[in-house]
Amino acid sequence: MNDKKENVAALLKKGILVSPDFVDEANSSIQSSEDLLVLSRESRQLLSRPGSVNWMEIEKVRAMHERGMADLPSLDDIAPAPAKLAGVEIINSYEITNQKTNVSHFTAYFSRRFHLLESLLRGRPELKNLTSVMRIGSSPSNVSIIGLVQDKIETKNKNIMLTVEDPTGQQRVILSRNRADLYREARDIVTDEVIGISGSCRDGVMFANAVVFPDIPSVDLKKSPEEEYLACMSDLHFGSKKFMADEFNRFISWTNMESGNAKQKRMAEKLKYILIAGDVVDGIGVYADQFSELSITDLKKQYDACARALSEIPERITIIISPGNHDAVRMAEPQPPLRNAFTESLAKLKNVLLVSNPAAVRIGAKENFPGFNCLLYHGYSFDHYVANVDSIRLNGGYDRADLIMNFLLKRRHLAPAHTSTLISPTPENDALFIDPVPDFFVAGHIHRTSISNYKATTLVNSSCWQSMTSFQERLGHNPQPARLPVINLKTRDASIINFNK
Ligand SMILES: [Fe+2]
Ligand SMILES: [Fe+2]
Repeated sequence: MNDKKENVAALLKKGILVSPDFVDEANSSIQSSEDLLVLSRESRQLLSRPGSVNWMEIEKVRAMHERGMADLPSLDDIAPAPAKLAGVEIINSYEITNQKTNVSHFTAYFSRRFHLLESLLRGRPELKNLTSVMRIGSSPSNVSIIGLVQDKIETKNKNIMLTVEDPTGQQRVILSRNRADLYREARDIVTDEVIGISGSCRDGVMFANAVVFPDIPSVDLKKSPEEEYLACMSDLHFGSKKFMADEFNRFISWTNMESGNAKQKRMAEKLKYILIAGDVVDGIGVYADQFSELSITDLKKQYDACARALSEIPERITIIISPGNHDAVRMAEPQPPLRNAFTESLAKLKNVLLVSNPAAVRIGAKENFPGFNCLLYHGYSFDHYVANVDSIRLNGGYDRADLIMNFLLKRRHLAPAHTSTLISPTPENDALFIDPVPDFFVAGHIHRTSISNYKATTLVNSSCWQSMTSFQERLGHNPQPARLPVINLKTRDASIINFNK
């Protein structure tokens, strides 16, 4: 017993906290060891088995188990997924495959991501004399490269120095603070994003004249031949004590044309689509002390309550739902559709289509009209850009969803900085690559309401249906609940109906 106490005390002195199973089996020689690799009993058992171990998968299952979501059966046996609902086509929606993830999948994922973004930049007129990093030395002036930003630092002279890489090598690039426009763009550059750079080379360093982003093209605003309406929602948070039931009931009664002024009733009459971009329920154990803030402490019952409320919406309206970080699926993106044992009641609604996060769907297609591409993304990566991108942080931060969404569209990626969200690599098709170009980019997560335009894309950050929680207060969020962005697809006019009164 004393040996064990001594072992623990000696290790604590070294700043090492150990688990009980380690204490049971440790011997006195451990105190004098300099290099320690501490493995749990479970890890040692796995290592002693023949064959390789998929640690990513193990961590994922452990995390799901801790959140009470292990072994979720697919709902395909309970309620088969509708292939299509009237007027809706799924462009991209991702299921979890049984493929085990290893390092090579991340390598393939990054390679795929680079080539997808590079293909958008290749052929851009701003990138004259495009060459690879390996060949840049042979044509030092007026040259362009496309690279993934591996590192970004500020030099002693307050210039910005990037290290970019392509499949042939790495190149240092200086963006001078004396070039105001260039420097403004350079300050916002994040690691892992793929950019084009033109400039000239001296002593192995490239001096940039311009930075080119993958971006979306400028095209004409698409308009439907028919007057139909699209409503955008997110962050319902059923199950939270702060869920705004009265306001949500007013929204339901509006969809049934039982409330609102004449104009609003007409909008409800012609409402065809509702997009819900995640955080359908509040979930369980999402943040510390959440349990005391729940009115429904059973995850399945949270979804049952949501399904009961959504079933009051007329069946002629198609509801498309993608998950968010509070929902009963894995955290890593792409998050699969909400089709599991917890969400059964939601999946059974006839007018509900469940898609992944992110997902792309086409709505409103007619005989001579191709329809609108809608990108749904909950917005988990947004927090990173609010904290780390100067032009967003210094111009309103969480109050400026439009700046965040612009930033991502310009980079054609929902998480250009790899650490901005949790990613499960999809080597064949980067799920976070923005393609096709959306007509509507619908997001949530930050519980603010905004509608803006970038080129021919309408950016909608949906409201929430939950008043401020202690968690949001700590994060400095300032929610704008119970507001509903509604868009006339014939005119592309947007309005916000306020149910919070
Ligand atoms: Fe939320
Ligand atoms: Fe969220």
